[in-house]
Amino acid sequence: MKIGLMTSGGDCPGLNAVIRGAVLHGIKTYGHEFVGFRDGWRGVLEGDVVDLPRTRVRGLAREGGTILGTSRTNPYDGPNGGPERIAVTLERHHVDAVVAIGGEGTLAGAKRLAEAGLPVVGVPKTIDNDLQATDYTFGFDTAVQIATDAMDRLRTTGESHHRAMVAEVMGRHVGWIALHSGMSAGAHAVLIPEQQVPMDQVAEWVTEVHERGRSPLVVVAEGFIPEGIDEVVAGRGTEASGRPRLGGVGEYVTERLEAMTGIETRNTILGHIQRGGAPTGFDRVLATRFGLSVVDLVHEKQWGKMVAIRGTDMVRVPFDEALSGLKTVPQHRWDEAKVLFGR
Ligand code: F6P
Repeated sequence: MKIGLMTSGGDCPGLNAVIRGAVLHGIKTYGHEFVGFRDGWRGVLEGDVVDLPRTRVRGLAREGGTILGTSRTNPYDGPNGGPERIAVTLERHHVDAVVAIGGEGTLAGAKRLAEAGLPVVGVPKTIDNDLQATDYTFGFDTAVQIATDAMDRLRTTGESHHRAMVAEVMGRHVGWIALHSGMSAGAHAVLIPEQQVPMDQVAEWVTEVHERGRSPLVVVAEGFIPEGIDEVVAGRGTEASGRPRLGGVGEYVTERLEAMTGIETRNTILGHIQRGGAPTGFDRVLATRFGLSVVDLVHEKQWGKMVAIRGTDMVRVPFDEALSGLKTVPQHRWDEAKVLFGR
C-alpha cells in the first residue's frame, strides 16, 4: 500500500515522532510505502506530495514542529475540496490511505471524508488535551513542562521584587495546561474556563500569600472568563473561520489584581513557546506508539477510526467518539487542586 501522512491544525511537539513511528513500522513490518502531504489538507487538495523513505525519518522523534508543515485548510473548501475531488487526487498519486494527524477540526474533516467512503484514519493531536476518547494527546506533557519551567523562573524574579506574578497559558476552552502546570509550579491560584472564580477570591489568595512574605503566582488559562465579562478574551481578533484567537485575559486579571490588592503585579503570556521545540520523553513515546498503532489500523483497512490511549494501552475508536464534545477538567480535579491555593 502507499500511505499518505498529513499534519493539520496547530503544530504540536511529537508530530515528527508519529511520522517516524508510522514510516518505520509500515516499511519494516508490512513493506508499505509512504508519502507526506504538505501543509495539512492543502497538500491533499492540491496533490502537493513528498516521498517519505526510511532515510527521511532518521532522528525525527526528538524534533519539534512537523517536517510536513501544517495549515488550517478545510478539506471541503475551494475548487479541489470535497470527497469526489480528493478521491481523484489520491488516485492520481496512487495513494491508498490517508492518515490525518490533527485535533478536533482536522478529525471532523477526516470523519466526513471517511463517511463519504474515502480511506481515512486519524491520530489525535493537541497540546490542549481536550479530545474525548483518549486519556492523553502528545504535546500536552511538553507544553506543561515548558510552562512549569517558565513559572519556576517567574517565581524567582517575583520573590526578589516582592511582586505578584501572573502567567497566561494556552489550552483554548479547557484548563488542562493551566491546572497541570499550576500544580507542578506550586501556583497560589489557577483560573480555568471550567470554574467561575470571583476576583475577590483571587485577590484574597494573593494577599494571603504576599502577607506571609511570598511572591504570589497566579496561572490563568487563555479561555478563562472573568466575572462580569460575557465571552472569552480574544485580543488578536478572529481567524477567517470565525474561530477566536484567544489571548489577553492575563492582562485583565493582572490589572484587576493590582487595583484590588495594591501589590505590584506583572503579567507574562507564554504563548507559542508552549508549542515549540523538542517533545518530552513522555510525548516522544506516546507519539511513536500512535504512529506504530495507526499503521496497523491502515493495514486492516479500519477506515473512519483513530488511535487513542486508555490507561497505558493503545486502542482504536471511531471518529465520532473523539468528537463527542470537549474533554473538560472535571470538578473533582479542581477540588483536589484548590486545597493548594492561597495561604
Ligand atoms: O489548539 C492549540 C493551540 O495552541 C491553543 O492552545 C491556542 O489557543 C491555539 O492553538 C493558537 O493557535 P494559533 O497558533 O493559530 O495562534
